[in-house]
Amino acid sequence: MRGKFITMEGCEGVGKSTQVSLLIDYLTKLGKKVYFTREPGGTVISEQIRKVILDPENTEMDAVTELLLYIASRRQLTKETIEKKLEEGFYVICDRFTDSTLAYQGYARGLDKELIKKLNEIAVGEVTIDATVFLDLDPANSFIRKGGADMQDRLERENIEFHKKVYEGYRHIAAENPDRVICVDASAGKEEIAAMIIEALEKKGII
Ligand code: TMP
Repeated sequence: MRGKFITMEGCEGVGKSTQVSLLIDYLTKLGKKVYFTREPGGTVISEQIRKVILDPENTEMDAVTELLLYIASRRQLTKETIEKKLEEGFYVICDRFTDSTLAYQGYARGLDKELIKKLNEIAVGEVTIDATVFLDLDPANSFIRKGGADMQDRLERENIEFHKKVYEGYRHIAAENPDRVICVDASAGKEEIAAMIIEALEKKGII
């Protein structure tokens, strides 16, 4: 039986990594086969692309170049890993995926959203996302929680206005895809958030 594909999305510092770990623990305890991956990255080639994208020294990077690098990283990860793991029946949990590109390069950088949707389609081919967990917390609060931006990450160094646009982008994406996107209030405590995610995934018949 085909596995399930769950993506995790949200602004910087919303507690995505913690929730990914808690979800993996839960699924593993249920006896499910779980495969975790992240974007950009997740394969040798995609991790190489990640380094180029996030390198704070790459100040000359053009926005379209950046977009195409994210798409290239996604194509490689999808073909090399995600497709196969889903065929093998794994729960594939991906830290960021197509919505990140729409939110960051589309809503925040201002690149053509229809073009991004087309490029995402090319990158993912036949793969479909079963559920996306959007950890809903605005960047003003998430950066406080995180203790400031990671200056080694070219995207995180962007100003607060950029991150506000990312957040608004996510809210639009969630509103446009109510069947796929699960919105979770990420201001709650971590155990409470984890329980909300599990309940929503159960309701959707994914767990
Ligand atoms: P991370 O910090 O969650 O590992 O993600 C790396 C950065 O890349 C983060 O700032 C979000 C950004 N990003 C995009 O701008 N577009 C994308 O398509 C993806 C996957 C990530």
